[in-house]
Amino acid sequence: MKILLSGADGQLGLAIQERFPGEVIALSRPAWDIASLEATRRALDRHRPEAVINAAAFTAVDAAESQPEEAYRVNALAPARLAAATAERGLPLLHFSTDYVFDGASRAPCHEFHRPAPLSVYGASKLAGEEAVRGLNPRHYIVRTAWLHHPRRPNFLRTMVQLAQRKEEVRVIADRVGSPTSALHLADALAPLLESGDFGLHHLVNGGQASWCDLTVYLYQKMNLPTRTIPIPAAEYPQPAPRPAHSVLTTLRDPPWRLPSWQEGVDLFVARFQAP
Ligand SMILES: NC(=O)c1ccc[n+]([C@@H]2O[C@H](COP(=O)([O-])OP(=O)(O)OC[C@H]3O[C@@H](n4cnc5c(N)ncnc54)[C@H](OP(=O)(O)O)[C@@H]3O)[C@@H](O)[C@H]2O)c1
Repeated sequence: MKILLSGADGQLGLAIQERFPGEVIALSRPAWDIASLEATRRALDRHRPEAVINAAAFTAVDAAESQPEEAYRVNALAPARLAAATAERGLPLLHFSTDYVFDGASRAPCHEFHRPAPLSVYGASKLAGEEAVRGLNPRHYIVRTAWLHHPRRPNFLRTMVQLAQRKEEVRVIADRVGSPTSALHLADALAPLLESGDFGLHHLVNGGQASWCDLTVYLYQKMNLPTRTIPIPAAEYPQPAPRPAHSVLTTLRDPPWRLPSWQEGVDLFVARFQAP
């Protein structure tokens, strides 16, 4: 299948290019700014794909609080235009969203029919993007994922490795729990999903659940890093954007491809991070 991919330089964009079977025409922002309607139409008409994957997004969660218009332009308006343009051409659209559409009040894992209630501008802009895609292209797959990491792009795991190189101890939030997910494992699930014809909303994450502190402890053990991990409450680490306390994702579907556990996701991160 010939796939047109936006956001090619991001974590997921990179993972899709590496792990996707078949032809991927991968365009990063200079070649395709998804916020431009003209650029979107040009990309579709020039490359004539059979399906489109939108991995571009405004993902700076804290910056979105002070730049809400830019967050909505990229996370809501751009997917709306892309959904309309793909629908006009009869193309399926695979679009990504986030666990940050939830408020974290539910202690149980959230499935596809849990009611979203975003706490942050980022979460609200992503929810608006979901709604637009759902309304404008019936042949959509909306994939909500969470806490993504890739060995070659900035993310929480890379930050914690860097901190370990200069600190004897790190203080890490222990009362925020989610679904850490390998972008490479997620990319493996996308071809079966696109072939399934099972349109709609899908929660796709590595299995299990962890706090940021659990994730750090496991990472340091795997890498034999001696840095101590001190658990702290989120209240001791104020950030501009509020985040859900508990946003573990689960699915009601019987997916064609089940992702491995979050620990296996970290194992893959470590193996690839340490590779020359
Ligand atoms: N990261 C996470 O933990 C996480 C969690 C849940 C869901 N998600 C969702 O998963 C998807 C992929 O996230 P990611 O972690 O791969 O993000 P990422 O690493 O931040 O990559 C996003 C990419 O989008 C590009 N981009 C931003 N604005 C653009 C525009 N107007 N036109 C074209 N490209 C643009 C960025 O380019 P620049 O570098 O030039 O800005 C960047 O390369 C997003 O939909 C995100 O909301 C991510």
